[in-house]
Amino acid sequence: MEKILVKNSLHLRGTVRTSGAKNAALPILAASLLGTEDIVLEDVPELKDVEIMTEVLKSLGSDVKKIGKNKFIINSKNLNSYETKYELMSKMRASFLVMGPLLGRMGKTVNSLPGGCNIGSRPIDLHLKGFEALGAIIENNVGDITASAEELTGNKIYLDFPSVGATENIIMAAVLAKGETIIENAAMEPEIVDLANFLRKMGASVTGAGTSSIRIRGVEKLTGCNHQIIPDRIEAGTFMVAAAITKGDVIVENVISSHMKPIIAKLKEAGCEVIENDEAIRVIGTENPKAISIKTLPYPGFPTDMQAQFLSLMTQLRGNSVAIETVFENRFMHADELNKMGADISVEGREAIINGPKKLKGTSVKATDLRAGAALILAGLVAEGTTEISEIYHIDRGYENIEDKFRSLGANIERVDRE
Ligand code: EPZ
Repeated sequence: MEKILVKNSLHLRGTVRTSGAKNAALPILAASLLGTEDIVLEDVPELKDVEIMTEVLKSLGSDVKKIGKNKFIINSKNLNSYETKYELMSKMRASFLVMGPLLGRMGKTVNSLPGGCNIGSRPIDLHLKGFEALGAIIENNVGDITASAEELTGNKIYLDFPSVGATENIIMAAVLAKGETIIENAAMEPEIVDLANFLRKMGASVTGAGTSSIRIRGVEKLTGCNHQIIPDRIEAGTFMVAAAITKGDVIVENVISSHMKPIIAKLKEAGCEVIENDEAIRVIGTENPKAISIKTLPYPGFPTDMQAQFLSLMTQLRGNSVAIETVFENRFMHADELNKMGADISVEGREAIINGPKKLKGTSVKATDLRAGAALILAGLVAEGTTEISEIYHIDRGYENIEDKFRSLGANIERVDRE
């Protein structure tokens, strides 16, 4: 079984370039099902999750070709199915994002229910509520979910929670519907803005993305376009925390500073120096960083996808740090793994208290989700000895060439194949 070994590596230094955003690439790949002409995507991160999504597109009849590093050409003119295969859906819940485009393009879609995962039950009620509001009939037959509609008609939809996936799925279902759709209390993540920009290039009419009210006016058909995926703000944040936790000096390139505000604010509160310019951010760690508190919230609040990485950092901050996780109901499993390394984290429901600084010791730990895996690498950098991380398939889902990137900053990290 593949594992990642991390040895004590303080004072990381150098420059690292983030890849395109996984959470923009996945909905944009799904949205390519709506196009009838060539679509060229650049800066697509080469990740397990992207591979699975391209397999899903091919299984529906879309022609998907990799034409260079991080570059794909897609043509969905001749779709021949509206049904996703269970074995693909079960590999990645984000495959569920093809439901909106298939409903919009084909008038029908059959998907196996996406599983929950370690971090929570991850229901899809808001996605389905949106489809029904557009006139779709939803049938839930033992594990499969079918949505169908003679014709989709625009409507006003209020989301009880600003769900990223539901906002994206509803936009993709509405772009070919008759009339106007307004999504209220929509998610405002930058990845939704990137999806809207992509759809507009294909001829869709989507305004307000990035605000809590998004307006879509249905059009007859969508053509093709060229699009470059935005940088991955979570990968960028992960390397910024790497500089902080190792008291290093790291420049992160290919980053949109305005997407990083909560992360920059919290690193500054801890005592780090953060220097921003238009395409890069430099983080210089401090010798004696102090405790901070974070509360995860939908964008523009502190991102839940950075909570695990900050928990690792908090083990090295002087005093009691607090992390409150409001987005997912079970996203502190990495606390147990960090405590195995000598951290002092106590979790009560949605709140974790982290007493620091604590000397961590390398041992065998396991990644419990994609970001938890990254957090364990960060902890391994400051731990004494060697940290052996298993279940690293989680990490490969969301981080492209993670060891090479860390190694380029001076980290002692390698991937091994051992039982
Ligand atoms: C997206 O997941 C991201 N994934 C997640 O990133 C990210 O953590 C999450 O947004 C929040 O920012 C992708 O974009 C592929 P949600 P998504 O719908 O869309 C509840 C990573 O590490 N909810 O905003 O599934 C749900 O239970 C991954 O890259 C409903 O109740 O997130 C959760 O508590 C992890 N009903 C909350 O909303 C619904 O119909 C946030 O979920 C949908 C969601």
